Amino acid sequence: MLDDMDKLVSLCKRRGFIFPSSEIYGGINGFWDYGPLGVELKRNIKDAWWRDNVRMRDDMVGLDCSIIMNPRVWEASGHVGGFSDPMVDCRATKERYRADQIFVFAHVYAMVNHKGEPTEAWLAGLGGTPEEAAEYIEKKAAKLAKRFGQPVGAPSVIPYLKLDQADREKVVGPATDERGTLTEPRAFNLMFKTYVGALESESNVAYLRPETAQGIFANFKNVVDTGRVKLPFGIAQVGKSFRNEINPRNFTFRSREFEQMEIEFFCRPDQAKEWYAYWRETRFQWYIDLGLKSDRLRLRDHDPDELAFYSTATADIEYAFPFGLSELEGIAHRGDYDLSQHMKFSGKDLSYFDEERKERFTPHVVEPSAGADRATLAFLCEAYAEDQVGGETRTVLRFHPRLAPVKAAIFPLVKRDGMPEAAEAIYRDLKRRHNVFYDEKGAIGRRYRRQDEAGTPFCLTVDSQSAVDDTITIRDRDSCRQWRIPKAGACQALDDLLEGKAIPGDA
Ligand code: GAP
Repeated sequence: MLDDMDKLVSLCKRRGFIFPSSEIYGGINGFWDYGPLGVELKRNIKDAWWRDNVRMRDDMVGLDCSIIMNPRVWEASGHVGGFSDPMVDCRATKERYRADQIFVFAHVYAMVNHKGEPTEAWLAGLGGTPEEAAEYIEKKAAKLAKRFGQPVGAPSVIPYLKLDQADREKVVGPATDERGTLTEPRAFNLMFKTYVGALESESNVAYLRPETAQGIFANFKNVVDTGRVKLPFGIAQVGKSFRNEINPRNFTFRSREFEQMEIEFFCRPDQAKEWYAYWRETRFQWYIDLGLKSDRLRLRDHDPDELAFYSTATADIEYAFPFGLSELEGIAHRGDYDLSQHMKFSGKDLSYFDEERKERFTPHVVEPSAGADRATLAFLCEAYAEDQVGGETRTVLRFHPRLAPVKAAIFPLVKRDGMPEAAEAIYRDLKRRHNVFYDEKGAIGRRYRRQDEAGTPFCLTVDSQSAVDDTITIRDRDSCRQWRIPKAGACQALDDLLEGKAIPGDA
């Protein structure tokens, strides 16, 4: 398991998974580019999601909406008025923070008066997760205890937003030693604004969508009228979303441009609870089936005070990243809030008529909303391993075969005796079905290592025996085990292996 994000960031750069956007100009914070291996990995994740949630089901249809929509959509959804994060500025450093990401430690610390009594509660701010705050505090507390020769009690972490104004003034900004440098929290709308057409006037303002979901609601009637769908059914969409995040961080985890994979599942109000339970479980299992270990995944139900006012239940699927447990996907029971809002703002009837029961009503919605970039990052973290092979440490990405960017590499053992020609013929044959890679350069051991780092599950090698008995070797990435197969059966053998059929010799 990966413990240090820097190792992954550097592997992603070195092997062409992920690059900082516009890097030759110094990059731009919160934007990332996917390189040749990364684009295949992310596409495989999106394809797996689409296949499992749309193609394989009878109750789901797809949609691909425009990124810029009529701005009334965002008034109806509540994004114009309410899609904001509380933000604070530090007057001393000019840094800007998300107020909900500042945790303070209220620590009666070992600044003692002459009687040895603690004299004041000290509040220090720290931009970060509660785990990061706790770690920081522990270090700081140990240092203070040493300095004053005092034992230091258990530190406590408090969200900055929970402090009253008088206490906020005592807070030391995350990057200063001064108190009271942080401004009062202010709402900062996260939508990117632009102008449509030639005039840059208020009447031409439009927004880059901050979620794909609203395009689905806005098209609900179109789909019902044309799609031959009957309740319960879902509409799925994969596409880019944009949020002007105050603090993009943790590699691609919080970006300003990212891709979502969202489902709005419409059902009768009296069945919404069951569908919510169904999607909560089904989505959790999807990550496990594709290789995320269940002990690093968590299904966390929101506390009542975390729920949006229209939601009766929401759960987050979280993954234990090296930087802490963080959200991969949210599953929300949204009631009839969205369709009702769009009815109100558009004046159009978005109710549904149930032909069987002869009833008209506004459907309720269960929304599983996932991030393609966060899923990609989680699969990368999970796949990353360093192990010992032949006395050497190798780095390997143990992707599930469905997700691996390259499914197989084909090598001639050496560049003579007809081996390259034979290997290339196999490569051409396999390429019609899978993303495969041909490589004849360098020592065979090095070529295997390079494929291990790219996460390629199988390597096929033509060697001197191939000309004698028409067999080739197959090497398995995870066990490094090799065995021989008939050359003519290479395509079938690879298909079987990618579908999870047992590797010879496996118990
Ligand atoms: N329609 C509901 C919705 O958008 P959300 O929790 O704001 O809900 C859903 O976003 C998912 O989109 C998140 O679980 C995450 O995977 C992804 N996501 C949200 N903001 C992101 C960001 N700044 N960078 C990368 N992914 C993000």
